[in-house]
Parts: sequence; C-alpha cells; structure tokens
Amino acid sequence: MSTPNVVLVTGAGGFLASLVARALLEDGETPNISLILTDVIEPKNPAGHGTNNPQHVLTIKADLTDPKEIDALFNTSFGIPDTIYCMHGIMSQGSEHNFDLGLKVNADSVRDLLQASRRYGTQSGRVIKFIFTSSCAVYGGPLPHVIKPETIATPEGAYGLAKLSSELYINEFSRRGLVDGRILRLPTIVVRPGPPAAAASSFLSGIIREPLKGVEAICPMGSDISSPELDLPVWLSSPQTVVHNLIHAKHIPSSAFPKHTRVVCAPGFTVTIRDEIEALRQIGGEEVLKLIKFENDPTAKRLVDSWPQRFDNTYALSLGFTVDEGGMVPIVERFKKDVDAGIA
Ligand SMILES: NC(=O)c1ccc[n+]([C@@H]2O[C@H](COP(=O)([O-])OP(=O)(O)OC[C@H]3O[C@@H](n4cnc5c(N)ncnc54)[C@H](O)[C@@H]3O)[C@@H](O)[C@H]2O)c1
Repeated sequence: MSTPNVVLVTGAGGFLASLVARALLEDGETPNISLILTDVIEPKNPAGHGTNNPQHVLTIKADLTDPKEIDALFNTSFGIPDTIYCMHGIMSQGSEHNFDLGLKVNADSVRDLLQASRRYGTQSGRVIKFIFTSSCAVYGGPLPHVIKPETIATPEGAYGLAKLSSELYINEFSRRGLVDGRILRLPTIVVRPGPPAAAASSFLSGIIREPLKGVEAICPMGSDISSPELDLPVWLSSPQTVVHNLIHAKHIPSSAFPKHTRVVCAPGFTVTIRDEIEALRQIGGEEVLKLIKFENDPTAKRLVDSWPQRFDNTYALSLGFTVDEGGMVPIVERFKKDVDAGIA
C-alpha cells in the first residue's frame, strides 16, 4: 500500500501548477503531504512554504513524452502517488504552431500518464485521483449564448482537440474505475504574472500586468481606446480562484459526479476588454493607460470572437467550486499589491 497524501504535480515549473504546489502545502485537508513536482524544466522547490511538512518535496526534471520518465515518477522514495495533478502542456498558440509537439504533449503524454496511473493504482490497491486542467478551448463552432454542461464541445484548434481527447479518456477510465478523474475546463486566467505565455489570450493579462509595471503592452484588439473591438466579452477567472478550485477538486467525493462525465466548467465571469482597461484606470490611474499600444490584428479578433463568452456556473457552484466576486477591479487591485511588493 502507498502512503496516503503522496501527490504528484506535473507542469510544476509552470505558472499554475507551481501555485497549486504551494496551495497543497497549506491545505489542511491534505496533512503530512509528500509532494512530487515534475516538469521538463527544473521545477522550483516551494519548501518552507506552508506548515505542512514542507521538507517532504521532491523535484524531478522529466520529459513526459517519454513513457520511461513517466514510469520513474511512480518509483520515487515517496511511493506510488494517490493523487495526480496533470497540468503540463503546450499552450494554445504553441500547439497551433507546432501541431505534432502539441499532440505529443497535450494528448499522447496525458494518455501515457493515465495508463501508468491505472497500472500503479492497481499495484497500490488505491484508485488514483487524476485531476486534469482542461480548457474552454474545447468549444468551437456556433455556440449558444450561454454554455451549459450539456453543450457539445467541437474544438477548432489543436489545443482544444488534445484537451477534449484527454477528457474522453479520463471519463472512460473513471467510468471503469481505473482512475478517479476530475476535469476542470478553466477560463482564461487573469492576471497571469511573469512573462507573456504562448497563448492567444496572453494579451488579456498583458494589458494589465505590463502597464502596472511601467512597461508598454500591445493590445491586438482595436486601433485606439475607443475602438468597438474592445467591447468583446471574454470569460475569465483570477489565479487565486482557479487554484482554490483545483484544490477543492481533490476533496469532492467521487459519488458527487454523474456516471457519464467528470468534466466541470470551472466558474468564471464575463467582462469586456474595455472593462479590463477601465479597472486598470481605476487602480493604476489615467497615466498607465498610455502604456497600452493598440495594434489591430484581425487574426486576434477572429480568435477572441470565436471563444465562448458566457457559461452557466450552476453545476460547478453546486459541487462547491467558487467564483470571483466583484469583477475586474479587485483582481487588478490585488495584482497591483503584488507588483508593489515585488512578487508579481
Ligand atoms: N493559464 C490559463 O489561462 C489556462 C487556461 C486553461 C487551461 N490551462 C491549463 O492549465 C495548465 C497549466 O497552465 P499554465 O498557464 O500554468 O501553463 P505553463 O506553460 O506556465 O505551464 C505548463 C508547463 O508544462 C511543462 N511542459 C511542457 N511540455 C512538457 C513535457 N514534455 N514534459 C513535462 N513538462 C512539460 C512546461 O515546461 C511548463 O512549465 C495547462 O494544462 C493548461 O493547458 C491554463
């Protein structure tokens, strides 16, 4: 039998999984955690963070497109994990530009990790919890005004295709009792700290982040601040809420999910790009707005226009997931505090 609370986090060198790793160390419902953090780049050890046996962290550099490297993650001194956060990936623009790499990382390696979880779960006598970060990019084509759990996902891009195919595997593996899957389709996360990501949605963080740091940001929508393109709605969540919801996903009893799907659209809220800029004006002042440079890009408009804009949060909230309250202003305010404190 493996020790309880051995948690493996993939993509742990990235933005979101590194926050999840820290949150796990502080999670009272995951006591005495043994945390295995892995990424193709050396993940940082958040040891010292939280109160939860912070010395129990292993960091492993591994390329998950190699099944042997996946196998090694189940054979560490911590034993077989009982929970896996599968969060590694190539983002939307990266997958679109390099179709084969996107498929290899976002679909093939997830399936290999799932098969390994099945094998090692059987060995440990424990069905492994498999928490997967999916995306609203699974949706494409004509969409209803509001997306509901029963809305069919028909992706129109390599990233969405790979995410959806991984979801289908996780659902079937869960139905068969081979893993205990939990799938969160995440909204676009704003404000993302650090350098711009290889995601088409990257500018939605950039137009807040860069000006608050005194740096110019490119907005690929519209030619100036009064352009009608800025009235396009987008579906967002703050990083804090997404991380909270990813930790919550671990604690939901499997009996709470219907038989046919482990997919939940994580709660989010709708704002326009203009609302974002207005929140920046309120928190950063008139001057910072001058740092947004408009370079109208018809491809960006087409993409943003094709993204789902509104979801029905009812099902997710009924499972105990939470949503940001108060729109963009508190999110921008929190980010500015992090910038002022030198941690963003
Ligand atoms: N940030 C968002 O707005 C958002 C929205 C929806 C879904 N997601 C999903 O959430 C997860 C985390 O996203 P993020 O924004 O932190 O991305 P990120 O790019 O910061 O992190 C992804 C990590 O995966 C790692 N990786 C890539 N290829 C790998 C490989 N072959 N082997 C091992 N590791 C590899 C990268 O090195 C990177 O550190 C991803 O699955 C992403 O698809 C994010």
